[in-house]
Amino acid sequence: ILEIISRDMQMSPNRIRIIAPADLHQHFRQKNRTRLIAPLVAKRFWLGLAMPNLKPPITTTDAMNAHGKEVMEASGGKLRVLETLYLTDTLDPREVEKACKQENFAGIKYYPAGLTTNSDAGVTDPAALWTLGTRPFKCLQVLQDAGKVLLLHAADGIARKRVKIRTRLYKFGDELDSYDQEPHFVAHTLPEIMGCHNTLKISFEHMSTGEGAEFMEQHGKVGRLGCGLTPQHMLTDRRDTHRGGLRPHNFWFPAPQALEHRQEINRFARKGHPFCWLASDSAMHLKKDKESVCCSGGVITAHAGIELYAEAFEKIGALDKLEAFASINGPRFYGIKPATS
Ligand code: NCD
Ligand code: ZN
Repeated sequence: ILEIISRDMQMSPNRIRIIAPADLHQHFRQKNRTRLIAPLVAKRFWLGLAMPNLKPPITTTDAMNAHGKEVMEASGGKLRVLETLYLTDTLDPREVEKACKQENFAGIKYYPAGLTTNSDAGVTDPAALWTLGTRPFKCLQVLQDAGKVLLLHAADGIARKRVKIRTRLYKFGDELDSYDQEPHFVAHTLPEIMGCHNTLKISFEHMSTGEGAEFMEQHGKVGRLGCGLTPQHMLTDRRDTHRGGLRPHNFWFPAPQALEHRQEINRFARKGHPFCWLASDSAMHLKKDKESVCCSGGVITAHAGIELYAEAFEKIGALDKLEAFASINGPRFYGIKPATS
């Protein structure tokens, strides 16, 4: 049981008690950063799913286990750590087979090359995911057979055909507007992956658009397709990034969208779907990398990892939905028994 205490304007405490929550998307980083982050996570969550976009990216079972151990030790042995492999054009399907034998292995994270922090080693052409004979294709088959999860950074960088996304017409090969990256993925990439790997478990990470929410309303399904929401996308929108100038500490991936998209994902959260869960995407950067000519995307929320969600769910009048979202739905999707207290 976790007790979240906040104080209202009159300074009287409000208490909410929920079963111990799990964070299904954490950037624990490495070395002294891990030693800072892991205790913050462990104070609030019993389970944390570690992202593999380290330097170098995690592409072997050994590297994955070493990272898991580093995080677990940094948490003082308190945190259960789920781990992931990083999908590249050349990730070895035999490494995936090896990882699949381990209980601590959650699945593979897909990064479109170049679209977020430490994604240079990501997949260069998403079509590899549904093209017979490619390594990514084989890796996904292994994953599917083992019942493990494909975690998606749901964005495309390039239009793969002549398409209209929102108000804009693209031709084949055009670079997409940053706000159109997720809608393009939802319309043209996610259906291809699902059609080709028809029992693969898929997690749509950090959903940030109305298009994403609409797709999930139609296709979200326990055991097949689920999504994570971040507190930053629930609580802020692009006005907060651009107010009075460019505010680098309010910038992350997926790029903050317009207000109506924030409203759509909040409407979605309020429904309390069993295929929607807590996945914070807390991502620490050094001040110098945020306040730079090319600001790194990402914000650390681990210091208030559950408190921010409590605020977000209170704002939308859905505090009654917080427990299932934070403590039950995510672990279940990954085949893990939720905490009982
Ligand atoms: C993440 C990071 O910094 O590692 N940044 C972010 O803005 N979310 C990478 C990611 O999850 O895309
Ligand atoms: Zn992330």
